[in-house]
Parts: sequence; structure tokens; C-alpha cells
Amino acid sequence: MSLFSRKPISELLAEEGHPNALKRALGPGDLIMLAIGAVIGAGIFSSIGTAAAGEILPSGVVVRYGAGPALIVSFILLGVVCGLAALCYAELAAMIPQAGSAYAYSYATLGEIVAWIIGWDLILEYAVGNVAVAVAWGGYFMSLLSAFSVTLPPWTTHGYRAALLSSDPAVHGLLQTAPHIGPIPILVNIPAFAIVMWITWLLMRGVKESARANNIMVVIKLLVLTLFVVVGGMHINPDNYVPFAPNGWRGIHQGAAIVFFAYIGFDAISTAAEETKNPQRNMPIGILGGLAICTVIYVVVGAVATGMVPYQQLKAADPLAKALTTAGLSTASWIVSLGAVVSLTAVLLVFQYGQPRIFFAMGRDGLLPRWASKVHPKTRVPHVTTLVTGIAVALGALLADENEIYDLTNIGTLAAFTIVCIGVLVLRYTDPSRPRPFRVAFVWPVTILGAAACIYTMFGLPGTAWKRFGIWLAIGLALYFTYGFKNSTLRRGAPPVPLTPPA
Ligand code: ALA
Repeated sequence: MSLFSRKPISELLAEEGHPNALKRALGPGDLIMLAIGAVIGAGIFSSIGTAAAGEILPSGVVVRYGAGPALIVSFILLGVVCGLAALCYAELAAMIPQAGSAYAYSYATLGEIVAWIIGWDLILEYAVGNVAVAVAWGGYFMSLLSAFSVTLPPWTTHGYRAALLSSDPAVHGLLQTAPHIGPIPILVNIPAFAIVMWITWLLMRGVKESARANNIMVVIKLLVLTLFVVVGGMHINPDNYVPFAPNGWRGIHQGAAIVFFAYIGFDAISTAAEETKNPQRNMPIGILGGLAICTVIYVVVGAVATGMVPYQQLKAADPLAKALTTAGLSTASWIVSLGAVVSLTAVLLVFQYGQPRIFFAMGRDGLLPRWASKVHPKTRVPHVTTLVTGIAVALGALLADENEIYDLTNIGTLAAFTIVCIGVLVLRYTDPSRPRPFRVAFVWPVTILGAAACIYTMFGLPGTAWKRFGIWLAIGLALYFTYGFKNSTLRRGAPPVPLTPPA
């Protein structure tokens, strides 16, 4: 069998109803809430500072140019790019309502090796991305605690990589002042570690409970952003919009490439397709509805933030709170910080939910060991992969620096989006008669433009991101040829669904 053998869609759908299938509990409202829960987070609360102001190393080397107030142009363009990809996701998610998202779609359309690459790639989006979100969560959590005059020893709130790469002398100095074991400084981000473990526990209890918790957090984050827009909107100084695009198109492009992180997540809900009621109708509603709402929110928040203070001043870990503080609105600033903590919790929840389901789907196909496809007999949750993902992300968050993670996550996600766009087009020709409850109109321009726009956005990322992405793919391919290639159920002609004892 070739490397490009495709899993028949009929076989994907046959997994439905198997004792090893997941429980269908989510409606369209839950899905839109899941999408907003996944999307609005570290991107808008944290990475917009770098997107607006750019990034220059202490040595004077420019890592990226900022968009300035033209950040809203970056947001609008990204809304279009993600809209094109979202249409493609919606067609595939409605057609193949299975756990596994882009991984499952590419298995059916482009073949096993592409599916593996996508599955491997999605780890960058979900698990690695969540490391950055957890670290950002830790930062906002500490600023909240400090409002109550509570502080923790700095060596328990900064990971080793964060201290090593920080241009802040106080943080970088922790390398010397932290307790040491021999020559090794002990620098661990305990809050970031703890939040991931707490969320893992929540997810292990079952999907419905988790969706309810997400709904509450989404309402809080929308209220807080509304507060920011209303209060901040009264303090806009039109002078701050001049110059509008200080670094021209280059700034808008490179700003978009980093703030793309703010959009990641609308696709995450497609991993819940197997747990969705009437996915043919509800999946497209959830994906497109969630993306549209978030795009509007970002443009408005971006316009207010860059109007309140000169864009250079947004360069901070907490740019929205900083804009409010600078305008003398410290109470609103405190409330927004609280909202950030809640929002980032919701993001963590959705991604910690999605990653185990991709591993689950890959385990079910034999590309990962069988334990990855186990479902808990009582909660119907893929408990083994949920726990493994939780521990891995928590350990990453213990040591990581969030900024170096954003770029890697963005490049991996954009690559996955590109393949999904191409997959829709391929499937229209290889399987034209399959029912498509949701069809992309103008399929040629939408898919080709979608793929091209994603690739173009990738070129806005710095060279280090490309190098690291290349290394990541090389490791993935090595794993595929040493494990998945030999154990794939499709390749061995074995039953596609591994048997675990029914409940
Ligand atoms: N879009 C998500 C965030 O901004 C990943 O945190």
C-alpha cells in the first residue's frame, strides 16, 4: 500500500455507533461558545502588543516590524484569511463528523502520510500553543494577586526559558539569584503548571460538565472586553492614529503573522464533531459564527487600544490592562486583568479538550499506540490521551517562554490550514458524489486563495520559526517511518477500530 493510501470516508462514518465512539452531547450554542472560548485569549490580551509595536532585540536586531495602529488592517485581513480556511473546515467537518479534525479530513483526502504530518502539525497548534497560553495565564494571574498585595518568590513564577530570553534585567537576573542545584538555577512557573493540571482534571470528568464551565467563562470574557471598549473608547486620542501604518505593508504583514495567534481556535471545535448533535447542520454554524463574532470584537478592541495610547506603549505582557492604566483607569484595568485570567482559562480548556481527541483518532488508526484510543467506560472521555496531554503541556509551561512559542504555533497552524484548503478541492474531484451538507461556493477561488493566503501569512514569520518548524516535521517523519508506517490499521488491513471493553 502506498504512503498516500486514503481512508475511505464510509469507513470513517462506520466508526459511528461503535462502543468506542464518543458521546454526542453538544448543540450549536455550545459549539459557538466553544469557538469563542478557544479563540479569544492570549492573542488579543497579550500578543497584540508585539503585533502593534514590533520586536527588537537588545542587540538592535529587528525580529519583526509592528503594524502600529494599522493593526486593525491586520485583523481584518486575518479575518478574511481565516474565513476562507473556515469555509473549508466547515465543508469537511460537516461531511466527516469525526474526532480528529484536519487529521481525519486529510486521511480521507490526501492520504496517510499527509494525515500524519497534519496530526503532528496540530500538536504545535494545540499542545504547544497551550504552553504559551498557560504561561500568559500565569503572568496575568500574578498581576491579579499583586493587586491583593500577594506575591510569590519570582523563581516559582518564571520558567527557565522565560528568564533566559527576557530583555527585562530583573527577570533575566533570576538566572543568578534563583536557588541553584549545583550549577542549575531552579526557575519554574508553578501557576502555569497548576492551571493546566486543574483543567486536565476538569476534562477527565466528562464533556458536558466542561462545556458548561466554558460557557460561563465565555460570558465573562465578552463582558470584560465590552467594558474595555466602552471605557477605553471614551479616552481615545485621534493623534495616536498618526502615523497609521508606521512600517507600511511590511508592518501590517508581520504584525498579522504574530497576531494570527488570536484567531487560532475556530477550527478546534471541529475536533468535537463526534460529540456533536446533528453535526451536518451545527458544525458550520459553530465554526463560521464563532469566527465572525471574534473578528468584529478584535477590530473594535484593536481600534480602541491603539487609539488610547501611542502604539509603542502597548509593548507589554498585558497591553490592554496597560492601556487602561496609562489612561488613569486603574479599576477598569484590574477588572480587565481578571477577565484575561478567565479568558485564558477558557482557551486552555478548549485546546486541552481538542488535543487528546486528535491523539485518540490517530491511535484508533494505529498511527499511535493502542492506549491512545482508549475511552473511559463511564465518562466516554479519551482519558488516557487527556491525561498524557495534560502532563506534557503542564511540564512545558513549567519552563517555557511564551514568545518563542507563538511563532512556532502560528507556522504549524497555518500549514495545517493550507492542507485543509487543498483537501477540499481534491475531494471534490476524487469523491464528487458524496453528500456535502455544507458546500463551499466558488470552490476553486476559495480553496486556492485560502491556501495561498495562509502561505503568504507564514512568510511574515521570522526565520527561526521556519527552522524550528522544519526540525519538528523531520522528527515527525522519523516517528512515522519507525512506528505508524508499520502499525497503521489501514496499511495492515486490520479492523479500523481497536476494541476496548464496552461500558
Ligand atoms: N486564539 C487563542 C488565543 O489567542 C489561541 O489565546
